[in-house]
Amino acid sequence: MSDRKVTIILATVFMAIAVAAIVAVYVWRDEGGGIAKIGGPFTLVDHTGQERTEADLKGRHALIYFGYSFCPDVCPTALADMLIALDELGPAAARVQPVFITIDPDRDTPAVLKDYIPNFHPRLIGLSGSAAQVSKAARAYRVYYAKVDDPEAGENYLMDHSSVIYLMDPDGRYLTHFSHGSGPDTMAKRLRELVS
Ligand code: NI
Repeated sequence: MSDRKVTIILATVFMAIAVAAIVAVYVWRDEGGGIAKIGGPFTLVDHTGQERTEADLKGRHALIYFGYSFCPDVCPTALADMLIALDELGPAAARVQPVFITIDPDRDTPAVLKDYIPNFHPRLIGLSGSAAQVSKAARAYRVYYAKVDDPEAGENYLMDHSSVIYLMDPDGRYLTHFSHGSGPDTMAKRLRELVS
């Protein structure tokens, strides 16, 4: 074999090992520490018109749900479950801030949320913002959303979106999540274990 061939083979083997190592680290981080990747900085506007960032949620646990106020069933159910669970938690619920973040900022302006949010809970915070601000927040929480393509819908369009309730710790770190349909009793039980 020529020196050139040896060099090419060595370079190829080295590259293969490097790629395998990068993939291994990526998979490992995704399994063990996917945790660290949920949550992060955001700047949004609450339903009273105040600017809010992730810093405002620190010092307490936060239950965070992304949805939209025009949602016919999924969002109201998830929000209701989340807030029933908080009521079941009793006095410890004071250590948990419930938060709704819209994924439909075009329609869910702070003014619309001002009417919507208090229907659910006096302590619920509703967050909206520009399309870019909402997109950044949703990306931080790995939330998927998209307008349902329906030319007939006009202003009554639906949104596809992930329906997951996140529990963050008082430092803004991800603790756990509740999938849609967990039910308030299961959520309250888990909250009792985690919120202290
Ligand atoms: Ni929904």
